[in-house]
Amino acid sequence: MTIPVIAIDGPSASGKGTIAEKVAEKLGFNVLDSGALYRLTALHAIRLGVRLTDEISVASLAATLPAEFRTGEVWLAGENVTRAIRTEDAGEAASKVAALPAVRKALLARQRAYAEAPGLVADGRDMGTVVFPEAQTKVFLTASPEARAERRYKQLIEKGNSANLAALVQDMRARDERDTQRAVAPLKPAPDALVLDSTQLNIDQVVEAVLKSYRTSQNLK
Ligand code: CDP
Repeated sequence: MTIPVIAIDGPSASGKGTIAEKVAEKLGFNVLDSGALYRLTALHAIRLGVRLTDEISVASLAATLPAEFRTGEVWLAGENVTRAIRTEDAGEAASKVAALPAVRKALLARQRAYAEAPGLVADGRDMGTVVFPEAQTKVFLTASPEARAERRYKQLIEKGNSANLAALVQDMRARDERDTQRAVAPLKPAPDALVLDSTQLNIDQVVEAVLKSYRTSQNLK
């Protein structure tokens, strides 16, 4: 039996996480937040004093990442890191380790294992291109850098972190640049992805567009 997979890719703060959760809730599907795995890998390396450029060592940490996802919480080696992995520094470090091919390879099997019945909504940069190339539904979610920086700003403040809007816009551009320019699994839409610009759309409208695309793919089977 093929497990239905909905791949949602896109740049930083395009709303992928929120959309993925809402779509999964509507369909009763599992969720994979692949960015969290890169964030956890980076945090684990930092905590253990491993340099983020040491590809072999970081990859071996990624392969045996002692991470656990419990309802609404993320734990790493017995520590609750739910907030620690969401800081901009953790995002920046994640994008550095994510550029290392051995690290990406080390996380591949773990990500694919999430494809369990009744289905999966996977959010990231390469869900539709590399991790789940056979996904029935692929969406590439974008928004202008300004809109994304504003969303991220609100998100950080709501979670009790400090934030600076101008710095966020700058950080977002730098991260987009690194994610799109890297040699392995660069951020780009799969040829068969629906490209959705959410700058002018609210969450419900985007969720509806993804569900519509999924229903269409089901009807075509
Ligand atoms: O929330 P935001 O989109 O900023 O970040 P995220 O999805 O948690 O991902 C953090 C970083 O991990 C990104 O900047 C990417 O460099 C990397 N990443 C990746 O390379 N491939 C994925 N499938 C997911 C994340």
